[in-house]
Amino acid sequence: MKKLKISALAALTSVLLLSGCSGSQSKEELTFKDAFEGKFLMGTALNVEQIAGNEPKAIEIAKKHFNSVVAENCMKMENIHPEEDIFFWDEADAFVEFAEKNNMHIVGHTLVWHSQAAPWIFVNENGEDVSREELIERMKNHIQTIVGRYKGRVDGWDVVNEAIEGDGSWRKSKWYQIIGPEYIELAFQFAQEADPEAELYYNDYGVSGRAKCDGIYDLVRNLLEKGVKVDGIGLQGHLNFDIPLISEMETSIQKLSSLGVNIMITELDMTIVPWPSDEVTAEVSLNYELSKEYDPYSEGLPDSVYQQVMDRYTGFFEMFLKHHEKITRVTFWGVHDGNSWRNDWPIEGRTDFPLLFDRNYQIKEGVDDILEMAKDWEMNQ
Ligand code: G3I
Repeated sequence: MKKLKISALAALTSVLLLSGCSGSQSKEELTFKDAFEGKFLMGTALNVEQIAGNEPKAIEIAKKHFNSVVAENCMKMENIHPEEDIFFWDEADAFVEFAEKNNMHIVGHTLVWHSQAAPWIFVNENGEDVSREELIERMKNHIQTIVGRYKGRVDGWDVVNEAIEGDGSWRKSKWYQIIGPEYIELAFQFAQEADPEAELYYNDYGVSGRAKCDGIYDLVRNLLEKGVKVDGIGLQGHLNFDIPLISEMETSIQKLSSLGVNIMITELDMTIVPWPSDEVTAEVSLNYELSKEYDPYSEGLPDSVYQQVMDRYTGFFEMFLKHHEKITRVTFWGVHDGNSWRNDWPIEGRTDFPLLFDRNYQIKEGVDDILEMAKDWEMNQ
């Protein structure tokens, strides 16, 4: 009788495996990169502590679940080029070496940005703004020294970051004030000269807003018409709990991809804690006082809120899958809730839940449904 049971059980298991209903086993092992294989790359931002090996559990998640990485901070000008004649390569080198060792797609972030620019770049020894020609030379040296160092190693660069305002106009950054609107096409030209094979991206936040999306559309269309190489547009995807609507981001993805460039979701996270203003922004200079009103979940997230989070994330991934021919990559801005910038911005010391791995390095309940949806996407269409 037992023998019969065993043979019946063996037969049943093989049927299940063959028919792919090996859900439970593969469900457990299903990873982001496997589930979205053939759709788009799945990535994460890594910070210097993680790259240095000081958070092995985070690195374990990165290696298991993701096939693309971007440096959260160590390639930004203030860190990598702190003085005119000084480049600090250690952290960026370690980041690129880590990614190469793990066969990961590498994104360089970011070459020209109004924020985290090194203090010396815009001024001469008397503290006055440098001339247009001098700043163009400094920008060229900055871009070509860094892109040149990682030529053939970094797959794509966020060449220009956050140059368009919410109303679609140009941000009047120091780059814009001193060089003028030409600074953007020069930046892409300098990057292409340094590594003609690397993909070159324009990256920004709040792109689900119509006016901002239209401003970016005009910017990139003009660049392309001038023959400037722009391979992709990054929608950062720093979501709030309720805005933008999935349909608003979808409209932007459709409009911008009509330019014939790749679309990437480059800094995905979703803040759950109440927001001190009703604007979708990632402007790092914002800062507000901490108060209980704005930090309601320090003891944990109520199930009802948790379910809303997972439903919203599932909705966004369903939309990304619907447009997977346009989207080449989806990157989370951090590995787990505990290391997210959202805990300290725009109010320092809050407890937020913006990512899909928790502070104990566990994948969150409900994520497997997103992964299953991805794995079975074609089958269900
Ligand atoms: O490394 C120093 C540390 O030595 C010092 O003790 C500490 C105290 O002030 O500061 C540390 O530097 C901080 C750095 O993060 C590393 O943690 C900077 O102050 C802080 O400003 C920096 O914040 C980063 C922010 O960009 C500004 O560069 C966030 O981690 C990073 O997540 C955020 O990322 C940006 C993207 O680059 C562009 N899009 C928006 C996104 C979120 O703002």
